[in-house]
Amino acid sequence: MAYENIRLEKDGAVATLYVDRPKALNALNTKTLQEMEAALHTIGTDVRVLIVTGGGEKAFVAGADIAEMAALPEAQAQEFGALGHRVFAMLEALPVPTIAAVNGFALGGGCELALACDFIYASEKAKLGLPEVGLGVIPGFGGTQRLTRAVGRARAKELVFTGERIDAAKAKEIGLVLEVLPADALMAHCRAVAEKLMKNSPLAIAKAKRVIEAGADLELKVANELERKTFGELFGSEDQREGMKAFLEKRTASFTGK
Ligand code: CAA
Repeated sequence: MAYENIRLEKDGAVATLYVDRPKALNALNTKTLQEMEAALHTIGTDVRVLIVTGGGEKAFVAGADIAEMAALPEAQAQEFGALGHRVFAMLEALPVPTIAAVNGFALGGGCELALACDFIYASEKAKLGLPEVGLGVIPGFGGTQRLTRAVGRARAKELVFTGERIDAAKAKEIGLVLEVLPADALMAHCRAVAEKLMKNSPLAIAKAKRVIEAGADLELKVANELERKTFGELFGSEDQREGMKAFLEKRTASFTGK
């Protein structure tokens, strides 16, 4: 399918979604979000890992599109916010691991996009932040909630209330970014991580992801119950039989995801 503002490329079982509107530093307008939604719908069982990054040299995503938002009446702003939430929730709910390769500015909606991925790796030139209060609004695509869960309330409030941009090293220090790489090594690092993930059972990873995500919003006792149940259920899978058999036979497992 041909898109205008994004690209979805597949290299074997690794898909890479580029938000690709460099003239506006990949800012998320309605069309871009709709294209992302359409692209996410095409992610099937042939994809084992999704990498999300920015097209061009300068930005991951510089936020929601301020030019489009500036004149929005309240009702349309509600719809725009709902669209962003829907797309990011869809990304977050994918059963495969998702990696944000933050190759430049990740501000506002861009930082929120990265936060909806499982891992965030950043280039040394990345700058991250949530500058919305300087525009008279608040983060609107999940930032107040996902950032708080990622770095804790005080750090989240500091970033949201000041609106300041932080560099990749600081973002790593506060636990927002997992690793910082030289710009020209970022994508290779993300692909190497993807290769590692693809050695493991896709079914077990999908279940682990779901239990971690769902469990984070539950009381510990209830969350542990979800883990217990899911652990047991996996013994009805081909991947469990293959994984344990391969270990005992001292060979590499060959998983089917079933
Ligand atoms: N929306 C629309 N256009 C944007 C944009 C955005 N978020 N960010 C950058 N652009 C456009 C600029 O307007 C400019 O366009 P023109 O060439 O037509 O003038 C082009 O991209 C290049 O940007 P700059 O000239 O500003 O580049 P710079 O290197 O001087 O600065 C920057 C880079 C610091 C990222 C700066 O562009 C900037 O501050 N951008 C806005 C960041 C921001 O506030 N993001 C949050 C948006 S609100 C939000 O995201 C709400 C939400 O949670 C849903």
